[in-house]
Amino acid sequence: MNRLTGKVAIVYGAGPNIGGTVAYFLAREGARVVVNDINEAAATKTVDFIRSKGHEAIAVAGDATKEDTVAAITAKAVETYGHLDIILNMAGIVLWRSVLEMDLAEWSEALLSFPTAGMLTTKHAARAMIAGGRRGSIIHLLSTAAHFGEAEGAAYAASKAALMNFARSAAMDLAHDGIRVNTITPCSVEHQLWTKMKEEIDEEKFVAEPGRPLYSRDDYLKNIPLERFPRASDLAWAAVFLASDEAQMLTGVDIPVDGGLRFKYPTWRPGDHTGVNIRDYVRSIRRTEYGEEREKLFE
Ligand SMILES: NC(=O)c1ccc[n+]([C@@H]2O[C@H](COP(=O)([O-])OP(=O)(O)OC[C@H]3O[C@@H](n4cnc5c(N)ncnc54)[C@H](O)[C@@H]3O)[C@@H](O)[C@H]2O)c1
Repeated sequence: MNRLTGKVAIVYGAGPNIGGTVAYFLAREGARVVVNDINEAAATKTVDFIRSKGHEAIAVAGDATKEDTVAAITAKAVETYGHLDIILNMAGIVLWRSVLEMDLAEWSEALLSFPTAGMLTTKHAARAMIAGGRRGSIIHLLSTAAHFGEAEGAAYAASKAALMNFARSAAMDLAHDGIRVNTITPCSVEHQLWTKMKEEIDEEKFVAEPGRPLYSRDDYLKNIPLERFPRASDLAWAAVFLASDEAQMLTGVDIPVDGGLRFKYPTWRPGDHTGVNIRDYVRSIRRTEYGEEREKLFE
């Protein structure tokens, strides 16, 4: 507790889900929080919750991909609370579409959404931090989509990858002013993804398509070394750390909150420890020279 006392934060995309959880955790640690969402009711709901817990927050609705709006939200934060120290941004459009069916207008809008919100929120926050003499912390939420190719995820993956490299470059631009820019990468989050997907998918039609079976929650889970999905609270704890002075030597960094998914050997699954006989494996190795198989190393 009190790890962020005296600090002022803006959270962009802070409806009650992941963003609202981050806003609440920042407030619980003593930050005064400006809660933004494009959906006014969602922002108000988060603020009502934070205040009901005895913490300080205001709601400011608006679209984080629009420059005038982001400038106004930043100004409101400074006007209300005196300065700005922390922003966390996650705003953008998640488009799932096969490249075969990609529409140019839809592609362009989705592709630009995450890095545009990233650039605008960073630019205005950094200007306010510099003007107020604050060595602030800027955090963007990525997705495993930023790091891997994903079927039907071309627009989302490209947009999040652009946000990731934007953040790394902004970290270099702002280092001189002592402003840190970092990212957090969650894999699929526990509380909502699978119910949402189930509602969105016409299962009968989907299963009927040859070669495209449903990819289940359990299939996904089998690939996570810590054997559970991250929760919004896991992301919020990472955000609290990056926002705090505890992380004052971290910039340009990405924190994966994915139970080890990104750094595991791709074909290995948790539980595979048993039954692997490394001696059998070594005996079966064959050496090749110039592309041709030569001999077994061991008999
Ligand atoms: N849910 C997951 O499993 C998961 C996994 C990896 C990454 N993420 C990332 O986490 C973030 C939040 O995802 P979520 O699943 O909680 O989504 P969500 O839809 O529940 O929350 C996103 C919030 O952002 C708001 N928003 C959208 N566009 C906005 C804009 N232009 N300006 C201001 N607010 C805007 C929405 O109204 C909503 O309240 C996204 O960046 C997403 O890519 C989510």
